[in-house]
Amino acid sequence: MSELKEKGLIFALDADSLNQALEWAERLRRYVSGFKIGAQFFTRVGLQAVKLIQEAQSRVFLDLKFHDIPFTVEEAAYETARMNVWMFNVHCSGGKEMMTRALRGAERGAKEIGKPRPKVLGVTILTSLSDSDLEQIGYRYNTQGQALHLARLALEAGLDGIVASPNEAPLLRKELGPDFIIVCPGIRLEPARNDDQKRVSGPREAIQAGADYLVVGRPIRDAKDPGATAHLILDEIAGANR
Ligand code: C5P
Repeated sequence: MSELKEKGLIFALDADSLNQALEWAERLRRYVSGFKIGAQFFTRVGLQAVKLIQEAQSRVFLDLKFHDIPFTVEEAAYETARMNVWMFNVHCSGGKEMMTRALRGAERGAKEIGKPRPKVLGVTILTSLSDSDLEQIGYRYNTQGQALHLARLALEAGLDGIVASPNEAPLLRKELGPDFIIVCPGIRLEPARNDDQKRVSGPREAIQAGADYLVVGRPIRDAKDPGATAHLILDEIAGANR
């Protein structure tokens, strides 16, 4: 695996208000590579969510998982890049052309504001889905096969990386090479506390499996001492790299 690649923790900032988000940002800033702003927080406060984190000198992963016709996704990607975010994502199942157009939109937006293009990631199979969920949707393969199929499509489309379960990370890393970014949610410190996640793993195992960044929300948010928990996860990441 490429030694120069950054490995790190991304906190899922699934907050209810700007004040709450600011508290989390101040508390966890020193531990994280960036904050992930998802549909819950973004639909509540809008653009201010992104500005708040950037003003706190941190990077934003805008997790809105675009999935629409190529034209619409290109325009959404253009607007997202104009927000100067660090990374954002689209669903791989939107198709290769949609992914290519997302990149094009991101390039256009970044050029306009004179900033680097945000990293564009493809969401493979949500970590909340199991093999039987996939069968119910009508997918052809199981979670592992479907994730690999979609990840290959993302690579061919030119995306920078993917979002996938740590369970699939070893196969994806082997098949997609050392430079493709793998971001893994579904991280749990106690295996018994899965919440709605079905394909989970511990932080050290996820990094050893080939993940670059771990997205963690509830295990930090619900901890007695969130800072100490974030610190522990960072130790696990460092331990896995040794
Ligand atoms: O609280 P928890 O650690 O389960 O949070 C995981 C975060 O990662 C949530 O914000 C969720 O929306 C996001 N996510 C995910 N699975 C994906 C992509 C994103 O759980 N495939």
